[in-house]
Order: sequence, then structure tokens, then C-alpha cells
Amino acid sequence: MNTKRRSLTGITTSGTPHLGNYVGAIKPAIAASRDDATEAYYFLADYHALVKCFESDRLHQSTLEIAASWLALGLDTDKSVFYRQSDIPEIPELTWLLTCMTAKGLMNRSHAYKAAVQANDEAGEDPDFGINMGLFNYPVLMSADILMFNATHVPVGKDQAQHLEMTRDIAQRFNHHYGQHFVLPEAVIDAQVATLPGLDGRKMSKSYDNTIPLWLPEKKLRKQIMRIVTNSQEPGEPKDPDSANVFSIYSAFADVRQRAEMRQAFVDGIAWGDVKQQLFELINNELAGPRERYMELINNPATIETALKIGADKARAYAVPLIKKLRNSVGIRPLA
Ligand code: TRP
Repeated sequence: MNTKRRSLTGITTSGTPHLGNYVGAIKPAIAASRDDATEAYYFLADYHALVKCFESDRLHQSTLEIAASWLALGLDTDKSVFYRQSDIPEIPELTWLLTCMTAKGLMNRSHAYKAAVQANDEAGEDPDFGINMGLFNYPVLMSADILMFNATHVPVGKDQAQHLEMTRDIAQRFNHHYGQHFVLPEAVIDAQVATLPGLDGRKMSKSYDNTIPLWLPEKKLRKQIMRIVTNSQEPGEPKDPDSANVFSIYSAFADVRQRAEMRQAFVDGIAWGDVKQQLFELINNELAGPRERYMELINNPATIETALKIGADKARAYAVPLIKKLRNSVGIRPLA
């Protein structure tokens, strides 16, 4: 079996990418894909988006924006496999094979599902109110994403750790019953990777409505950065960098020297407006080049479509023979 490290991760296509996605996921993943000892499989999880995004135009637009973002930020599609989940029909097929090897009790324990039930409970609703089978089955689909390519490593946020445990469970049960088909994947939860705070200091997240979108034009980017919440200390007053949201965001983009200099500037009483101006310049310098490429890509979706089709071909070169072997092993094979 494959001994190389195979790193795989999916990005749900239900929103507009923001700085938190960039710092927490896209940037480290692109950096990891440059390592020759790693095979990188990165994909647009549009089937996962369907669980909660029922506006077809939004899902479609998000797919376009997220694909364009990865390409504009320098993902090398020759060195990695970049594809759209829904272009790989073997994934839903594997989902069913795995579904039939998944204990319902295991799914009952899913944090995401339980949270939805609890929210209903607190609202005095029926426990199943608004919960579709996609949400309940979500961990099985995610397991299929991972096992379809026998990924060894899966970089994810802390909130996804349980899904990786479930994937290992499901893989083990399948292997036990039908033979050793699947590698047991490991979650890679990088404590080094910054969780970027949003405008209000909580984690930057679409659900908190506190994001700074990744591709704002320069003027709007500056305006949004000026909205980051600070305390009311005056210019000249020494400030504490470690309790300042704006310093955390600055740190996520700065190199070691810039960070040390900003830390000193806080002690020396830099005005909040000046911190934000410097933060704007730092981010804008990093994103100005990619932003031009992004605009070009968004205006030429056919280029993106072509890249994804090539990625799907590469992915299916692995998935098609594996699904054939799996069908065979479960007893779905020609009669003569
Ligand atoms: N569930 C992941 C998230 O919300 C996205 C995802 C879908 C994924 N399939 C995956 C991540 C497979 C890693 C591997 O972040």
C-alpha cells in the first residue's frame, strides 16, 4: 500500500471565503502541498454544503469563489489533486457501502447532530425539528471522502476531531468484515495554526457575522479593518497587545520582526487607528497580487472548470479501481 503521506481535506462550499478561512486553512494547506513527501488531495465539499445550504445560486457561487481562491493563492494543481466532490460519483457510492457498515448508535452520538437536537429541546420543539438525514449522515459522507483515497492524514479544525474518530471506527468495521481495504486516517489538528478572531474578538466565523471577506477591494478592506473592536484607550497610553484583538490579527500576518516591533509600539502607546492602518497595509500587501489573479479567475470560470475536471480525472484514477474492488468484496459483481 501507499507509504507516502497522503493529506486530504475538504472545504464546504456554502459561503464567501474570509480571512479566517485563509489563515486557518487555505494558507497552511497550500504550504503543505509544496512538500514533496506529501500527496495533497484538496476538494470542494459541495455535497456537504447541501446539508445546510438550500439556495442553489449561493451554493454555486460559493463553489466558484472558493475554487478561485485556492487557485489565486497559488495552489499548484500539478503537484496536488484539486477536485470537486460531486465530480467523483464513486464517493456517494462508497457512502452507501459505508452507511451499511455504520452503527446508527455511532451517528446518534455525533456532536453536530446532538447540538441540533439540544437546540430543539431548548426551544421547546420536537427533537427532530428541521433536522434532515444529510445532517445525520454527514459523518458517513465525510468518511467516504477520506477512505475513497486512503488518506493517511486529514488536516481539520478541532470541531472535526470526532468525525475522524468515526471514520476510523467505520473503516475498522468495514476492514474487519470485508478485508483490509482502508488505511486508518489520522486527524492533524495544528495548534500552531492561528484561530483568527473576528471583528468582535470571537472566532472569525460566518455564523457570528464578524468576518472580513478575503477579497474585498482595497478601500472596503480598509474600512472593514477600521471596524475591528478595541478598547477606548487614548493615543499615547501604553496598551496591552495580548488582550487586543487587533494584535492577534496582526500577528497572524506578520513575520517575527514585525510582530516584535508592533509589540513595542503597543508599549509605546501607538494609537488604535495607526495599528489598524498598519494592519491594513500588511494584509493588503499580501493579498494585492492574489486579488488580481482572483478577479481574473472569477471572470473566466471556464479556466476553473477545466482545472477541476483535470483534478477529477486524477482523483478518479484512484477511486474507480478502489470502488471496483470494494463492490467485488461486498458481493456486487458480475454473475457470469
Ligand atoms: N466537514 C468538514 C468541515 O466542515 C469539511 C469536510 C468534508 C472535510 N469532507 C471532509 C474535511 C473530508 C476533511 C476531510 O470543515
